[in-house]
Amino acid sequence: MTADIIDGKAFASNLKENIAHKVAHLKENYKLVPGLAVVLVGEDPASQVYVRNKNKSTLAAGMNSYEHLMNDDVSEADLIAKVEELNNDPKVHGILVQLPLPKHINEAAVIESIAPEKDVDGFHVINSGLMATGGKGMVPCTPLGCIMMLKDKLGNLSGLDAVVVGRSNIVGKPMAQLLLNESCTVTIAHSRTKNLAEVVGRSDIVVAAVGVPELVKGDWIKEGATVIDVGINRIEKEDGKTKLVGDVDFEEASKRAGAITPVPGGVGPMTIAVLLANTVTAACRQAGVDEPLNC
Ligand code: GUN
Repeated sequence: MTADIIDGKAFASNLKENIAHKVAHLKENYKLVPGLAVVLVGEDPASQVYVRNKNKSTLAAGMNSYEHLMNDDVSEADLIAKVEELNNDPKVHGILVQLPLPKHINEAAVIESIAPEKDVDGFHVINSGLMATGGKGMVPCTPLGCIMMLKDKLGNLSGLDAVVVGRSNIVGKPMAQLLLNESCTVTIAHSRTKNLAEVVGRSDIVVAAVGVPELVKGDWIKEGATVIDVGINRIEKEDGKTKLVGDVDFEEASKRAGAITPVPGGVGPMTIAVLLANTVTAACRQAGVDEPLNC
């Protein structure tokens, strides 16, 4: 079998087009312009690139983008004061504090200071609680993007065996929760899992989000399984140049899988598109407008 390649770039571009239409509709009919505020502390080059891309995509969708840059010696209290100012700003419907934060700042305290209805990352404990109990909160972008791609490929996920490799708060745990909400039988595997090959081998859906280059081997994959690779790892090749690889051995896995996301060009492009979708959802809820986006 040769796997279908799930084109995350095309998927994201479709989703962004939907979002831009919805934004135009909200402007025309409700004078509502969704606004996303991004707070960046310090000058980490990778974070700067992410924030710049978020800003560009937000503006391209016709939404308002507010960037707040703070020095890396900012105190936790001043950062939380900034978040509270944004909580109280009616033009701002979504707030994202770029992670990681400098070591002297307690990330959990900052995340918990974001108003849950503006928490477009879906990291606030209220939002994880709502997701776990079937409520209507904000859902983390990367896992939500993975679910959209899985449903697009497979339709109904009910009853399928799914494994999530990785247990981070940002991807692994919410991903497992969302798969459970779709009535999958879910296993969460991690660095202490005893027989990872066997667990992966019985799964119809494999989501790898562990941050270890090519940890998941091709011959572990069940014939016809759908493989979603969240990993983005830069590794050095034999010629000294670097390349990006995922958490799955793509070359070998694509010989057995039914469908697979590539790295780059799979899950990565979806994350920003879903962030925009979450911001539109947040704006609609805050304005009391009908629930959005057929996506
Ligand atoms: N840093 C890397 N990924 C993310 C993300 O999804 N949200 C935030 N806030 N920071 C990040």
